[in-house]
Order: sequence, then C-alpha cells, then structure tokens
Amino acid sequence: MNDQHGTGLEPTELETARPGYSPIAPISHRPRVTDTDPKAARRAERQVASMFLLSMVFVVLFVVAFIAIDKTSVVYIPVLGVVGASNVALGFTFGVSVFLIGAGAIQWAKKLMPDVEVVQQRHDMVSEKSDENEAAANYERGKEESGFARYKIIRRTLIGALALFPIPLIVLLRDLWITPAGESPAELLSTTMWKDGMVIIPDIGYEAGKEGTAEELGIRPEDIPVGGLVSALPIEIGLLKSAKPNLIERGKASIILVRMDPSEIRSQQGEGWDYNGILAFSKICTHVGCPIALYERRTHHLLCPCHQSTFDLADSGDVVFGPAARRMPQLPIGINDEGLLVAKAPFADPVGPSFWERDLT
Ligand code: FES
Repeated sequence: MNDQHGTGLEPTELETARPGYSPIAPISHRPRVTDTDPKAARRAERQVASMFLLSMVFVVLFVVAFIAIDKTSVVYIPVLGVVGASNVALGFTFGVSVFLIGAGAIQWAKKLMPDVEVVQQRHDMVSEKSDENEAAANYERGKEESGFARYKIIRRTLIGALALFPIPLIVLLRDLWITPAGESPAELLSTTMWKDGMVIIPDIGYEAGKEGTAEELGIRPEDIPVGGLVSALPIEIGLLKSAKPNLIERGKASIILVRMDPSEIRSQQGEGWDYNGILAFSKICTHVGCPIALYERRTHHLLCPCHQSTFDLADSGDVVFGPAARRMPQLPIGINDEGLLVAKAPFADPVGPSFWERDLT
C-alpha cells in the first residue's frame, strides 16, 4: 500500500521500481468532527455500542415472540392484507436486529475508523515475499487503526450481537418437528376440515369478506365446464364473518375442482369419488407443499410451479414427472339435496409434503 498524503506511509522501493509508477499529487484532507473532538468520538462510540446492544434486545424479542404469539393468529396490515401475526413479529424483530448490526458497523466505519486517503499501486498478480510481508504488516496496522482493540465497549457489544445473531435461526428449527399445537407434522397433516356433507365454495379469499348462504355461495356441477378448474374451500373456512380465520386450516383444506369427460377418467383413488366427471384434489403439492393450480386441460396434467412435479388427474393424481414421491390426495365428492357440490368424506391420505412419513420420534 502506498500513501503520500500525510499518513506517514511512504511507497516501498518495490512499488517505486514498478513500471508505470508515478508519484501522485497530494489530496487535501478534511478531518471529521470525531477526529478532532474527543467528546464527539465518545458520543459516536456510545451510538455504535447502543445499536449493537439494541440488536441483542431484538434477538431476545424474537425468541419471546416465537414462544408467546399464537401461530394461528392473524393481523390486518394495510397493503399486505391479513397475515400471520407470528410471521410479522418474527420477521420484524429479526430484520431489525440484523439492520442494527449493519447500521452500527457503518457508523463505526464512518465516524471512528481512520479517515485517510490511501492509494494502492496496481501490480502483478504474483506477490513478492516482501509484498506478503507488507500485507501482513498492513493487516496488523489496520487492526490497530480500526480501533478493534482500543474501543473495548464496541468490541464487546459487537461480539455479543454476533454471538446472539444465530439464535433466531436455531429457534426456527423447532418448527421442523413441533407444530404450534404441540402435535407432530404427521398428526397435523392427517386431518383437515373436510367431512361428509360439507358444502364446497369457491376460494374467494378472506379479504373479500363475502357473506351468504350455502345456496348463494356453493358450487353447482353446471358451474364448472368440461376442462375447467376452480380453486375451492369448505364453506366453514370460506365464510369470513362466521368463522375464525385460520391460515393453517385454510391451507390444508384448499382443493381444486376439475371437470373432464367421465370417459377420460382412467382411475381414481376410490370408487365413485367423482361427480359426473368433476374431481376434487388437494391443492397442496406432495413434494414440499407449494399450492398448485396450473392445469393442462388436454392432457389432464397438473403442474407444480415450484419444482415441476406433474400429476395426472385422470389417473388418480399419479406422479408422472418431477420430485414428488406420492400422488395428490383426492377428496370424494357428490351433491346434496340442494344440488350443491359437497364432500362425501375427509381426505383418505394426509395432505401436503411427504416428510410426515419419516420417523420423527
Ligand atoms: S413443491 Fe411441488 S414440485 Fe416441489
């Protein structure tokens, strides 16, 4: 490194001997307030340490939020709509803690680390031994000048903030084997809201807040043309005003209805599970759980956009391509006395990703 502007560092012989070396005109240097005023330097030191301390506080808040907030509770946030309260709290606290470490580091660099103009000569890629020694010396000098050894409070609070930083990542691992209600993922995914006689309605979304009777909201077979696809829910979860919004139950119960010519159905996951060519399948991919609604009416293939698993809905929802290990669970359907499409039984297979098949004990 070559410095010619009052920092006391002179170019080495090796650098001056290099082809193309030329001395560089001095650049005027304006010291910062923290360079000349010890009080300002101490104030900056306290600011930086406060940010690192606050980062630690937000990590603790993250853990508290993870434990205390019901995973099924939701909040309304303008623009975003209805979102999980736990997700919002975890994202906010973790994001702020990361931000404060970054902001503290920037503040430290801008106000307290050496503020000098440094010029580095360009040189060959292969380093001379003397260059290596020089780099090592520069590293030692940089360590000294950065104040890492001098500013003890900053050093300690930064070490504290970085030590707590991985905790949120470790805490989140708990969700891999324990659900909010304390059940295993296998238990959670084994049951959904669907039961015999439950009316099927279109998935209108919570925000719509649509109210109405089953006759007004329910789907009739004639509403679905051959080749059509409808995203749907059980009526209990679909009616915002008559049921507590529950994102987990809503996700598990999401289905798609497709209609094809009955003669095109090659096999099903049970006898008589369709109604005049209308079939109902879970909407949650059996690979890792992405929602699917990409349907190719000519081939009856359902394509998952996440990793391209493809399911043949005319053949029991079997996997024809991709990483999914099992077919799409099918919901047996029929019609009730009012002519509305209803479930005839719960799903026979667990919905969602297949990790529940593993031994989690
Ligand atoms: S989640 Fe559907 S293929 Fe991976």
